[in-house]
Amino acid sequence: MKITIIGTGYVGLVTGACLAELGNDVFCLDLDAKKIDLLNSGGIPIHEPGLEEVVARNRAAGRLTFSTDVEAAAHHGVLQFIAVGTPPDEDGSADLQYVLAAARGIGRHMKEYKVIVDKSTVPVGTAEKVRAAIQAELDLRATYATFSVASNPEFLKEGAAVEDFMRPDRIVIGVDATPEGERARDLLRSLYAPFNRNRERTYWMDVRSAEFTKYAANAMLATRISFMNELANLADKVGVDIEAVRRGVGSDPRIGYSFLYAGCGYGGSCFPKDVQALERTARHHDQELLILRAVEAVNDRQKHILGNKIVKRFGNDLAGRHFAIWGLAFKPNTDDMREASARVLLADLLSRGATVAVYDPVAMAEAQRVLQLDLTSAQLANIRYAENPSDALVDADALVIVTEWKAFRSPDFELIKKRLKQPVIFDGRNLYEPDTMFDAGIEYHGIGRSLQVPA
Ligand code: UDX
Repeated sequence: MKITIIGTGYVGLVTGACLAELGNDVFCLDLDAKKIDLLNSGGIPIHEPGLEEVVARNRAAGRLTFSTDVEAAAHHGVLQFIAVGTPPDEDGSADLQYVLAAARGIGRHMKEYKVIVDKSTVPVGTAEKVRAAIQAELDLRATYATFSVASNPEFLKEGAAVEDFMRPDRIVIGVDATPEGERARDLLRSLYAPFNRNRERTYWMDVRSAEFTKYAANAMLATRISFMNELANLADKVGVDIEAVRRGVGSDPRIGYSFLYAGCGYGGSCFPKDVQALERTARHHDQELLILRAVEAVNDRQKHILGNKIVKRFGNDLAGRHFAIWGLAFKPNTDDMREASARVLLADLLSRGATVAVYDPVAMAEAQRVLQLDLTSAQLANIRYAENPSDALVDADALVIVTEWKAFRSPDFELIKKRLKQPVIFDGRNLYEPDTMFDAGIEYHGIGRSLQVPA
């Protein structure tokens, strides 16, 4: 099938590459000529396991093309996926300017039936705005063409996006109950048929419900995390091990184990933005989403948990203190630093006069870029970018773990003790067992794992 993908960001590129892998003829459009040049020369703008190979293989096979040509893009695919960014605007609502610009680009050039598929995470009612933008362009050209706008939200996790796309838990598709919508349903059904061979994974619904489903899913997951973080902070005070509680609670099939890990807060491009956007949608309709407001507040506070524990241990004035930081990206297997907890921790430590040595397996360059925006030049001068995890440890007062990269899971604790000034670990992702740390003679501060029975 001929497919156009508008936007070669994270979602667009993964979707385009994976649909080409299934044998489709995919044309990816982006207005950023530099990005298109990079992709055409075999480069990849993001770090995502397996993506480079899929892109290379399908480019070589002639099934995956990258271009800045809006007209060619509009003619290419009967399915036109919009996968551009929806960044938060000043009040936290999703900014639809790129989505609507993409829609106008299609409307300016289309001549025959098209299905426009919203892949970007967009608020309820966006499909209607997309439809109106396309219709306005057709009217301007006095052209008659039928089309349908469908919603097909993306549930990819960064760091596992290719795998998630190729083995989806579910595919959510919203189509209109009109003849054009029925045609859209037939096309999308055959596009996704390869995923439904063993069992049907597609959930068909109306367009608005599909748009809402994406926000509901992300808000639910963010809620679980903030809830566990709040319980973990209490666990620290009452001598409870949150990991034991997680297992006990997760064993209830009504609850399940996933997304119950306490830590130093959630980050990334989706949860913070989508929770805010859903709150804004509610506010536009005179409703306050009290739970989500708390989810956000708890997460903002949780990003300071490591800084607060360090201050409690070493005092408020950290001048002369030096810390080793392992992990900068908002989660493993990505170089994405958006809303990463490490940014809050670094600001907390550096603003109190500490110096740090940081290490991340892939996010070092991206961290340097974003930290320029966050910190003063005096603070930036107090960061050393270490060569490897063990180099970061030299002469530090403590090791602080922010991202749960696999490489940090089984370190050489004797080496850690030798390199640190004193054997202290603050673990924002609960990678180690407090008992093991105790036996190894390491002072260990996890999240919700202190096990100190209060006096
Ligand atoms: C998320 C959704 O999972 C995905 O379905 C959606 O399409 C986009 O948003 P992503 O942001 O890539 O994906 O990462 P995810 O693995 O969900 O983690 C988000 C954040 O939550 C990370 O900072 C992670 O460290 C944190 N997290 C996750 C926890 O703190 N505890 C958990 O139990 C799980």
